[in-house]
Amino acid sequence: MSAPWLVLDRVSKVYGDGASAVVAVREVSMELQGGRFVLLMGPSGSGKTTLLMLMGCLLKPTRGRLFLFEHEVSALDERTLPFLRRRYIGFVFQTFNLFPALTAMENVELALNLKGINGREAQRRALALLARVGLRDRLHFLPRDLSGGEKQRVALARALAGDPPILLADEPTGMLDSRTGRQIVELLADLARVEGRLVFMVTHDQRVRDLADDILFMEDGSLVARESAGDLRELVSRREGR
Ligand SMILES: Nc1ncnc2c1ncn2[C@@H]1O[C@H](COP(=O)(O)OP(=O)(O)OP(=O)(O)O)[C@@H](O)[C@H]1O
Ligand SMILES: [Mg+2]
Repeated sequence: MSAPWLVLDRVSKVYGDGASAVVAVREVSMELQGGRFVLLMGPSGSGKTTLLMLMGCLLKPTRGRLFLFEHEVSALDERTLPFLRRRYIGFVFQTFNLFPALTAMENVELALNLKGINGREAQRRALALLARVGLRDRLHFLPRDLSGGEKQRVALARALAGDPPILLADEPTGMLDSRTGRQIVELLADLARVEGRLVFMVTHDQRVRDLADDILFMEDGSLVARESAGDLRELVSRREGR
């Protein structure tokens, strides 16, 4: 097995201090590889978004060690975090956060510009990314003329702008109906299985569990359980006597 891409070693995040301190993430340890689609579930306030922000170098752990590829994020200067983030991580959020005055193409091109890719090359790549997410015929639409699912596809194309090995998604289907949401999740699963990325998604949607390789459960800041699709399939076939 190849070296893990992300390693968390007893990572904790405490917001505030003294009497008002909140332990949002409590001694979480895990190792994650490429090519996997991982779901994170758990009640509201259990620390899912905080864990995602730690993994995405938007926050530094209060305690414990976190490694992203060969870098020990927990030991780095705050000012170095944006570089790691830009190089390795793509984010997708529940609210699509598109620029309302820019077309689908322009939203993706802007993300490419921020990665230092400009002009013709940016256009070529934006087109390829939008085609990848199934929006070949919506290139010049403004966000207000796109459906929720289409907006999330643009956001996904934008997240892929720097070709990041890791995609972190925080309730990306929260604003979508279940059928549209499932299509987005299928696309995310594909980005892991077909393209070899690590896709880590927070969700409350029980109906997409079958699409995941691993499902992690959080409660009160701790990882409390883990299911892998392999286990699930084995359980089902044992029950069905196959
Ligand atoms: N910036 C902050 N300052 C102080 N406390 C915070 C901050 N952000 C989050 N918290 C607290 O940390 C805990 C975990 O929050 P977090 O947003 O990670 O939960 P979550 O599992 O993503 O919840 P939800 O499902 O509602 O999105 C909560 O108790 C929350 O109030
Ligand atoms: Mg959250």
